[in-house]
Amino acid sequence: MIATHRLGTVSLMDDGSQGSRSAAKLNIEMTLTPQESVTTGARVEARGVGRRFLTPRGPLDAVRELTLSIPAGEFCVIVGPSGCGKSTFLRMLAGLDAPTSGNLAVTRPDGSPPANAVVFQGRSLFPWLTLEDNIGYGLRIGGVAPAERRAQTERLLAVLGLTRFGASYPHQVSEGMRQRVAIGRALAVEPDLLLMDEPFGALDEQTRYLLQEELLRIWERTGKTVVFITHSIDEAITLADRIVVMSAQPGTVRAVIDVPFARPRRTTDVRSNPQFGQLFTRIWELLRDEVDRARHGQEQDVTR
Ligand SMILES: Nc1ncnc2c1ncn2[C@@H]1O[C@H](COP(=O)(O)OP(=O)(O)OP(=O)(O)O)[C@@H](O)[C@H]1O
Ligand SMILES: [Mg+2]
Repeated sequence: MIATHRLGTVSLMDDGSQGSRSAAKLNIEMTLTPQESVTTGARVEARGVGRRFLTPRGPLDAVRELTLSIPAGEFCVIVGPSGCGKSTFLRMLAGLDAPTSGNLAVTRPDGSPPANAVVFQGRSLFPWLTLEDNIGYGLRIGGVAPAERRAQTERLLAVLGLTRFGASYPHQVSEGMRQRVAIGRALAVEPDLLLMDEPFGALDEQTRYLLQEELLRIWERTGKTVVFITHSIDEAITLADRIVVMSAQPGTVRAVIDVPFARPRRTTDVRSNPQFGQLFTRIWELLRDEVDRARHGQEQDVTR
């Protein structure tokens, strides 16, 4: 008999509030068998997706006419100028927000709804839980037995280099350590769709490189779908199967670039490959236009 666990979206807002409660409210908790969740990733189909916000200054199109297919198991990285709608799109993928136009479908290969986990930028831990309990949070709400939960969280604490800090509280450790815990908590539930919004942005470079390697290793082993937002072109090329370059606001797909490096991938091999430089230049040239357009737009906004 296959035990069925209920796994919610494990996500937290920038203010540290409990995203999973919002997720529950939006009724995006789903039923999963743990065995299936190990072998399948989710597929994303966005067709003409738009998200319009009504602001005191009038309607604002954060995302407009965004069309993108992400096959199950792909590592997709999104880059784009600040304010172009990357986080807005990610929140819609997580089911925490909905498009105001177009169609967005996130499904597992068998058509059933996926479990997802989100790592947002910024502070995102429960301050009243130890690091170990933060990592095990998704497992606990998924009904995983205490012994199994403990084994999982200990393994992740070791992977993240935090074994000695399992009993510490978030305010007792560094920002880099807190972000590692946020990543560990998302990985713990082995999601079909792992959504990451600049998860390594606040980390020092060494920690960032180590976690990139660790994320690749875990992803290559599990075959989950990952949608990862970053401002770092280097990080995008190191991690991605495909890089989506978004336009300045309103955000849409400016280009989709295949990253040709083989899997399993060693981050040092990627960075020392001559093709790395060519890819970097190509992406930067695309981005530079969009960053300029975004800056121009923001300056006009300020002077209006
Ligand atoms: N709830 C909201 N209400 C009104 N406007 C919003 C809301 N959420 C986002 N926006 C606006 O939508 C646009 C896109 O925001 P979003 O956070 O998605 O950008 P981003 O690409 O993630 O930027 P960054 O790289 O700086 O994180 C911005 O102009 C933002 O002000
Ligand atoms: Mg953002």
